Amino acid sequence: MSSTLFRTKSVEQSIRDTEEPEHALRKSLSALDLTVFGVGVIIGTGIFVLTGKVAKETAGPAVSLAFVAAGVACALAALCYAEFASTVPVAGSAYTFSYASLGELPAWIIGWDLVLEFALGTAVVAVGWSGYIRSLMDNAGWQMPEALAGREGAEGFGFDILAAALVLVLTGILVLGMKLSARVTQLVVAIKVTVVLIVIIAGAFLVKGANYDPFIPKTQTVEAGSNLQAPLIQVIFGWAPSNFGVLGIFTAASVVFFAFIGFDIVATAAEETRNPQRDMPRGILGSLLICTMLYVLVSIVVTGMQHYSRLSVDAPLADAFKSTGHPFFAGVISFGAAVGLTTVCMILLLGQTRVFFAMSRDGLLPRFFSVVHPRFKTPHRPTILLGVIIAILAGFTSLSELAELVNIGTLFAFIVVAISVIILRRTRPDLPRAFRTPLVPFVPILSVLASLWLMLNLPTETWLRFAGWMVVGFFVYFLYGRQHSRLQREKAAPADTAR
Ligand code: ALA
Repeated sequence: MSSTLFRTKSVEQSIRDTEEPEHALRKSLSALDLTVFGVGVIIGTGIFVLTGKVAKETAGPAVSLAFVAAGVACALAALCYAEFASTVPVAGSAYTFSYASLGELPAWIIGWDLVLEFALGTAVVAVGWSGYIRSLMDNAGWQMPEALAGREGAEGFGFDILAAALVLVLTGILVLGMKLSARVTQLVVAIKVTVVLIVIIAGAFLVKGANYDPFIPKTQTVEAGSNLQAPLIQVIFGWAPSNFGVLGIFTAASVVFFAFIGFDIVATAAEETRNPQRDMPRGILGSLLICTMLYVLVSIVVTGMQHYSRLSVDAPLADAFKSTGHPFFAGVISFGAAVGLTTVCMILLLGQTRVFFAMSRDGLLPRFFSVVHPRFKTPHRPTILLGVIIAILAGFTSLSELAELVNIGTLFAFIVVAISVIILRRTRPDLPRAFRTPLVPFVPILSVLASLWLMLNLPTETWLRFAGWMVVGFFVYFLYGRQHSRLQREKAAPADTAR
């Protein structure tokens, strides 16, 4: 039994599968497309929304150090992702990588995890987008009826119609094809990066040194709430739950980690890349580097413009400009944020349909979902199915806790990928690797420790929810995936390998 649970799909088989015409995606992306794609999904709710909340409640001006800490953890993970993506250029990201190295059950767990995390991530960003749109509508004097303005603050029924509509429109664009979505992405990314640069450059002239005092606020014990809301690390060691101080920087890092999610999704487009061996590492590492620099600068500037205790939680970047008497800049930033969050949402949606597609192609989910559209060459069935589910989810979801759940799932995927790098080096030393993670096993081990540390800084209740998802995943695998797995069927009926 254990030999079937850990059966691996060879790297050559993974690559051959992508060449079957019925299941083949179009190869059209370059390194620049991938970097734009990466920046398009990385810069989003994390920097535009979470910066304010985290600086105000957990880290003070030291939120910039939290971005550095989360950035370091992501850079370590990126070095591992880049080796895998350049060696196994097949849709499905960490799912495919672990199928080739750890075996079917671990791959199933990670794929199951990724689909859900990306789905929740899409919903979170769609709700954040809808908030910015409503704030722009307010400026123009238009009000949404309360029942259609989302769950946050709604009494009784609340459905976020804007968030749901956004997800449905983006689903339509993705069904029509990658090329169209890449073009739209480029334009929107240009607007988003311009807005971020405006914050950094214009904001730098409005910084007051006094706002950095204290840079790392003194530790504050949190009034006895439920232990479930305290970071797991504090519960394990029996520490009194606290905010700020040096530990607060790490708690903040585990939350602002959300701002970096996305560079890993670049890897899910490997199969659609013209020269994945060369372009994948460039795309992943390049987009991560650009974003880390922008985040650190933005957080330094914003906490210098306004005292951390007065930062706004909903639109901190725009409101910092309002507080210094520059409403014009505030309007431009709100507009850019609303436009920018659109691409984040679209690429998260794209990433997860590709994971679903890869799992279906392997028979772990029904094969019905992995037949590409004859004309558009896109996996239209999972795109439509998941798009509709996420639209409903976005309509009825409130932001905060879901973002932490997305983080824990993504960090878990990072750990699996780092371990897989070490294993695949041992089991398949012969594979050509266009990009090699430096100092193996040292860097992958550091990556595992950094991701684990951030996970431990997430609330206990987030761990419990994550465990619940994983248990459901086990049931689905043992009731469906294990019997229908393509590897299983090929073993049972070797002649039937064509389908
Ligand atoms: N990194 C993306 C964001 O911050 C998911 O919205």
